[in-house]
Amino acid sequence: MEVFEKNDKRTHYCGTLTAANVGERVTVLGWCQRQRDLGSLIFIDLRDRTGIIQLAFDENTDKDIFKAAFATRSEFVLCAKGVVRHRGEGAVNPNLPTGEIEVAVDSFKVLSEAQTPPFPIVENSDTNSETRLTYRFLDLRRPDMQKNIMARSEITNIARNYFREQGFIDIETPQLIKPSPEGARDYLVPSRVHPGCFYALPQSPQLYKQLLMYSGFDRYIQIARCFRDEDLRADRQPEFTQIDMELSFADEEDIIAVNEGFIKKVFDEFMHLPLEVPFKRMTWHEAMERYGSDKPDTRFGLELCNISEQVRGCGFGVFASCVENGGSVRGITVPGGAKMSRKEIDSLTEFVKTYGAKGLAWYKNADGTVSSSFAKFLTEEETAGITEKMGVGEGDLALIVADRDKVVFDSLGALRCEVAKRMDLIDKSKFNFLWVTEFPLFEYDENEGRYKAMHHPFTMPMEEDMAKIESDPGAVRARAYDIVLNGTELGGGSIRIHTTERQQQMFRILGIDQKTADEKFGYLLEAFKYGVPPHGGLAFGLDRLVALLLGLEDIREVIAFPKVQNASELMSKCPAPADPDALEELCIKVNLPEKE
Ligand code: AMO
Ligand code: AMP
Repeated sequence: MEVFEKNDKRTHYCGTLTAANVGERVTVLGWCQRQRDLGSLIFIDLRDRTGIIQLAFDENTDKDIFKAAFATRSEFVLCAKGVVRHRGEGAVNPNLPTGEIEVAVDSFKVLSEAQTPPFPIVENSDTNSETRLTYRFLDLRRPDMQKNIMARSEITNIARNYFREQGFIDIETPQLIKPSPEGARDYLVPSRVHPGCFYALPQSPQLYKQLLMYSGFDRYIQIARCFRDEDLRADRQPEFTQIDMELSFADEEDIIAVNEGFIKKVFDEFMHLPLEVPFKRMTWHEAMERYGSDKPDTRFGLELCNISEQVRGCGFGVFASCVENGGSVRGITVPGGAKMSRKEIDSLTEFVKTYGAKGLAWYKNADGTVSSSFAKFLTEEETAGITEKMGVGEGDLALIVADRDKVVFDSLGALRCEVAKRMDLIDKSKFNFLWVTEFPLFEYDENEGRYKAMHHPFTMPMEEDMAKIESDPGAVRARAYDIVLNGTELGGGSIRIHTTERQQQMFRILGIDQKTADEKFGYLLEAFKYGVPPHGGLAFGLDRLVALLLGLEDIREVIAFPKVQNASELMSKCPAPADPDALEELCIKVNLPEKE
């Protein structure tokens, strides 16, 4: 191994060299992608985060250097100096941006040797994700991961620049905060100085950013780390990053406009694609009725159709009794779906059952022959009424669910996406941004038998619905909005409550008694007494934004060191048991449940 010296500093990144550099003497640093020994000739592909340059060693090369090149293996860390030259006739590699040139090496150092890595450091690796994450430091060397992580940095910079240009002030809020009873589960951090007391890691900077508005900062932005102890999915991590903003003296229109401006800038400067603003908008009610989802993917049709009226009192007990009991019967029509086999329909039936549906009724009409799982229970007129309402034509397939609205929406909302995926109906080049507005203020939690805030308890109700807030809380809409991209919730926000009376009322309806409210949010209620501007804001999920823009389904691909499904990190192997002395100092006794 050789020493890295002052005059070994890089003059050029490997991937930035071009024919314009021919004749220049350069110093390049990086990893050996591969070494090819052709006897009297040796080539080394040298890689850094910008790309690859070919190093050439031949009969004119110093003997010791030639020997060192001969001994070089993949992933050795190298420093090479030499003159850039055109490659020989027929040696040009059209697949490599630097494929016309090479460096004729006249000075060469091995700065570090390497074992053979457990998987090849190449693009589009098919290595399993467990191995990739265990050796994440190697996985991150792969060009696609480097591209993802650098794209994330670029998008973060665009956010910082854009919001600064718009007069936003970047303010850090604490990471050790008071545990809060609402929302997801908190990550708790024990206090040594206050034995028995705990901090929570923030699920978001929500209350602090509101307080900054009360302090007069007017426009706040933070690239904020958030922590939520929830069950993980492809688009959820226990720690993630928000682009978090808040505005004073603002209404929905101001917040929507400034955030559309941000996305537009990302499309101009990063995607280099035109983007139409303003984005489409849809109320929550319309989104549910048409798509069965509050985050509809509008890149394809397969919209829901309500046939409750058509089947009221019909001869098929499943449909009739469902309507009778206050549920609904809805379906989607799949154009050309009649060619779907019974087996495929059965697998869709199993699919909707995972969303709570009890079954999936179907009807198809192929070559003039009707087949259906329910038509035999109905009169011809009743069947005709359904197919007419649903627009089922020759060659089409109708898929129908009867249940409580929630189950119908959940299962059909997911079914339309599943069918679109299976039938390849999604145009992957589309970026369909959509604002979903007028969310319900509350949702009823069947398990706990009480209302919960749909967004969070600081969201302002819509003025027009205030009359119903005590008598029929479930019917009250919120001044809340989500930004949706291609069926993913990219961000969300709301106009906030800024008076004591409203906030107290909200807590009361949520079943948070005065004592608890004072204990948990006393400082917020106190602050309301001293002059609070009307305000609102929004937070984007940065991980989701970057993943979607890069066309990736899993946000782990844009996070340097992500966690896996069971919230552990495979490389460092955390979480891990704490040192007994540390626990004692914290007055904590671990009481594990007995193993089964
Ligand atoms: P919300 O809870 O909707 O709002 O979060 C905002 C956005 O953060 C992203 N997100 C996540 N990303 C990855 N992993 C997770 N576990 C995760 N959870 C959420 C989503 C989501 O849209 N304080 C409010 C915002 C506000 O009202 O201003 C909030 O946190 O993209
Ligand atoms: P059954 O009479 O139970 O065999 O059901 C006849 C058809 O109706 C089958 O295709 C079932 O999958 C379907 N089905 C049963 N329950 C429901 C429901 N709640 N909604 C829609 N279809 C259903």
